[in-house]
Amino acid sequence: MEGVDESTIFETPLLELDLGLESGATVYAKAEWFNLYDAPYGGGSIKSRIAKGMLDGAEKRGELGPTTTLIEPSSGNTGSEIARLAANRGYDVEIVMPDNASGGKMGAVRDAGAEIHLVDADRGYDAVIERCEELVAADPGRYFRPNQYENPDNPGTHEQTTAPEIYQSTDQQVTQFVAGVGTGGTITGTGRGLHERSDGRVTVVGFEPDSPLHAIDGLKYLRSGDHYHPATYDESVLDRKEYVSTQAAYDRARELRERYADRTVAIADTGQHDTATVREQLRVDGQFLLGTSAAAGAQAVTQLDATGALDDDDVVVFVLCDRGDKYADIPLWEEYL
Ligand SMILES: Cc1ncc(COP(=O)(O)O)c(C=O)c1O
Repeated sequence: MEGVDESTIFETPLLELDLGLESGATVYAKAEWFNLYDAPYGGGSIKSRIAKGMLDGAEKRGELGPTTTLIEPSSGNTGSEIARLAANRGYDVEIVMPDNASGGKMGAVRDAGAEIHLVDADRGYDAVIERCEELVAADPGRYFRPNQYENPDNPGTHEQTTAPEIYQSTDQQVTQFVAGVGTGGTITGTGRGLHERSDGRVTVVGFEPDSPLHAIDGLKYLRSGDHYHPATYDESVLDRKEYVSTQAAYDRARELRERYADRTVAIADTGQHDTATVREQLRVDGQFLLGTSAAAGAQAVTQLDATGALDDDDVVVFVLCDRGDKYADIPLWEEYL
């Protein structure tokens, strides 16, 4: 297994993006693929943060021994990031995945040397979680499950890292924070941290897919019906919620690709990286290609603007959870990559 450099996690760059908003509000985007940017399979994602946070927390509490195997159900980024970091620290790792998970994400898990348990995707994501629970129940002494849907270190890591980074790199000027809901860890933790720091001046906007049959990776449809509500998602932190369609998100991503085809992406803050590294890692094959939930974030900001919720002195921050190269085999970018 090729080692990964954990020191590149956190302090990600902040980009200034032109989304063509009516209001003229300033829009910044936190580029999360710079976490573990030089790891194999297109770098990391926002989930590198919580993989590190949950592993550090478990180690600190003495929950991991030398023979512990880490196990997590995941269709994507959390699985690959836990696999990479746990393997890096010398633990055995097993990831339970639906058999339709994207090739890039499965490749990253495999590349880390993790054992993969595949579950028929037609049986739904609950079957993936059940398989994981069965494996743990059969040999409980062997396994530690970080459990991103229940682990307080998930929102806790965002409260301690993502929130202060955004507050500092916008010179305390942020007025809206916009993020999608999967486990709810990002919106809950970052929202809490920004509310605390700004004395409630920051408006926290969460967004969810508008349909259960969506193709926005990592996000959860919770709007109606009997859905499992993650313990890591505290909706009371939200000041507002938006619903985003897959089609509108993908259209927005393609529009941004066009807009930045011959235009430089403005870097507001390079974070812990140097400008040359940020420039080099911004594009895939020379193109500015967002991941699916990043595209949905751009769409959520555009929707906010369209309802008149933004003014020209607002400073909006949203999150680019990962980069388009993770989606080379899905309809968003398959014709471009
Ligand atoms: C690409 C991507 N975007 C967004 C999210 C949602 O973030 P959170 O789980 O913090 O709500 C995830 C979570 O899996 C993700 O993988």
